[in-house]
Amino acid sequence: MNIVILLGAPGSGKGTVAGKLASENANLKHVSSGDLLRGAVAKGTDAGREAKGYMESGNLVPDALIARMIKDVVAETTGDVTMLLDGFPRNLAQAKILEEMGAPVKGAILIDVPDAIIQDRIAGRRTCPRCKAGYHVKNLPPKVEGVCDHCGAELVVRKDDNPETVRDRLVVYHRETEPLIAFYRDKGQLKSVVGTDPIDTVAASFLDAMKD
Ligand code: AP5
Repeated sequence: MNIVILLGAPGSGKGTVAGKLASENANLKHVSSGDLLRGAVAKGTDAGREAKGYMESGNLVPDALIARMIKDVVAETTGDVTMLLDGFPRNLAQAKILEEMGAPVKGAILIDVPDAIIQDRIAGRRTCPRCKAGYHVKNLPPKVEGVCDHCGAELVVRKDDNPETVRDRLVVYHRETEPLIAFYRDKGQLKSVVGTDPIDTVAASFLDAMKD
């Protein structure tokens, strides 16, 4: 097993690209910290109850809380698999935690999208609460409006996808997460893809960047 980290602002397309590539390649596994946390909130676990307020206000949940979840997923993933790790690490402290776990990080790939595009991306996002598939009302619409193509569930708007919270998430991204770009660049482990191309092109560029 090895790990490729997806870096990029909220709404840059991390989940879309990782979900598409994992559905098309049996040896790729998409692990999203946001989906793990939203799952815990939906189930009402202790971790979910603790995470809820942070997530709804656009802040990061405590490092130890999300690190425990990631540690479990890393431990249970074996064999000839590349994990596409989406949303973790989210700050330098989490990058150090990942190193201390001995996680086999192969590299990090930045999906580069300017802030000006982010609000439109997120305003149009619709998410399947059951199978986690992601859509966009204009850029990636479902076949039937409001219904998931894969499992038929009714699509929802994420609670943190309102314009005010998105502004706050971008501030948190620039302050906490952006320093990871220099962190992985300094290690010689960073690649970058243009995130403003059509989804299929971004996914193809990402797959290319995964090759050595
Ligand atoms: P998380 O779920 O990780 O949210 P995020 O990083 O803000 O990322 P998003 O899911 O919003 O965006 P994305 O890049 O996946 O974009 P998507 O592919 O959907 O985290 C949520 C919260 O959980 C955080 O705020 C925090 O509270 C907590 N959390 C999570 N991880 C944590 C951690 N490690 N530590 C602490 N707290 C943590 O695309 C967006 C839209 O654009 C979609 O509608 C899509 O269809 C469309 N789109 C995508 N690509 C394209 C394209 N190329 N062209 C046109 N449209 C596109």
